[in-house]
Amino acid sequence: MAAAALAMAEQVVADLRAKCEKPPSMLREVAAEMAREMGAGLEKEGGSRVKMLLSYVDKLPTGGEEGLFYGLDLGGTNFRVLKVELGGNEKHVVDRYSREVGIPPHLMSGKSSELFGFIASELAKFVNDEEKCTNISNGKKRELGFTFSFPVKQRSVASGTLVKWTKAFSINDAVGEDVVAELQTAMGKQGLDIHVAALINDAVGTLAGARYYDKDVVAGVIFGTGTNAAYVEKANAIPKWEGELPNSGDMVINMEWGNFCSAHLPITEYDQELDKESLNPGEQIYEKLTSGMYLGEIVRRVLLKISLQSSIFGNIDHTKLETPFLLRTPHISAMHHDETPDLKIVAEKLEENLEIKGTSLEARKLVVEICDIVATRAARLAAAGLAGILMKLGRDCSVEDQRSVIAIDGGLFEHYTKFRQCLETTLGELLGDEVSKAVAVKHADDGSGIGAALIAASQSQYKNDLVA
Ligand code: GLC
Repeated sequence: MAAAALAMAEQVVADLRAKCEKPPSMLREVAAEMAREMGAGLEKEGGSRVKMLLSYVDKLPTGGEEGLFYGLDLGGTNFRVLKVELGGNEKHVVDRYSREVGIPPHLMSGKSSELFGFIASELAKFVNDEEKCTNISNGKKRELGFTFSFPVKQRSVASGTLVKWTKAFSINDAVGEDVVAELQTAMGKQGLDIHVAALINDAVGTLAGARYYDKDVVAGVIFGTGTNAAYVEKANAIPKWEGELPNSGDMVINMEWGNFCSAHLPITEYDQELDKESLNPGEQIYEKLTSGMYLGEIVRRVLLKISLQSSIFGNIDHTKLETPFLLRTPHISAMHHDETPDLKIVAEKLEENLEIKGTSLEARKLVVEICDIVATRAARLAAAGLAGILMKLGRDCSVEDQRSVIAIDGGLFEHYTKFRQCLETTLGELLGDEVSKAVAVKHADDGSGIGAALIAASQSQYKNDLVA
């Protein structure tokens, strides 16, 4: 490769790094702005891009929940059905079975009835298979918690209308409709007699699932295909709430922070182009910088630019490199974590996914650097978001005997080690040593699925005991 081509590519990468890097002082500005937007979103409907949606969950699981519950989790590229047996304080989760089903891509942009029909038919198969193994006594109604991970305006804990789609979904006729009614109709067509006892967001489910085991959990956060956070707010600190205040005095807020935007965010030309060509231009800007659906795509755009400008990869066919979303976040994670001396994994991923063959070691090193810049920016902004929540809760300063746990779920956090490490280090930097000692970030494994079943259990109108 000509030295000139390498120098040109290095310049593109250096410019990218300069634009993406944010010192702690700027990240603190992002955190403060997140905290301010949270307040504005609670103040009045439409007061902020951060919607601060009421979840109508006014009490979190205590650990005493009992019975058999189903859960349905829709929100990423797969959906999951699960069955959970809760054994009360002593035993907690006695048994759980789950099945993951890929969503055929055409259903993500088709008709609402087709998507819900598919979900209900998969649920019916699961219920039939499971009930061959377990007897449910006659006359006991099955109950289900529905994790629906999109912005929903709720009217109660078990109903809500879809505000808009996010991530890779775009089904026009579902917007403004009650998703529980849609699910209930589709289940009816399958002859499934299941009562939807709770409709929750995955961030709310993560909070509930983690709180079940640890009373110091103050927020549930998702870094997966998309990103979002939920936390417990004092009901009397929600001016926009017009209803009766709940007995508990609390209300879980589904922030929908993916839609956060601020002049302090380091937005590059690649992000602007990605946004313009996305399903939801101008929306979910924070999500487009920090979540799994987009990180691979940002890297692809940078690679395309350097390939076109510098011929660093040689004379390649650009068809693959020009295909949106072909390079996925798990691929960039694999390249970023490549520890082989000659970056063999980087070479493999470039070849397998983008048909870029025979790369030089220098070119592969630059690819790793691009992954590093994009993932580091995401992790640092993610940490700033967490610091923003702690600020809003007044937990960004040290108070004796106060412990704050943030429960996080989602594939990006779970599988992208460098993202997770950088998030944790940056949060430490932002909070300082003293406060950091009292703040823990914890992986909440499958929080959202269990969380839905737990909230269904605490809302349950029916006793649904297992028969031996
Ligand atoms: C998107 C959705 C939000 C969800 C998040 C994580 O941001 O709008 O509801 O919680 O993705 O799945």
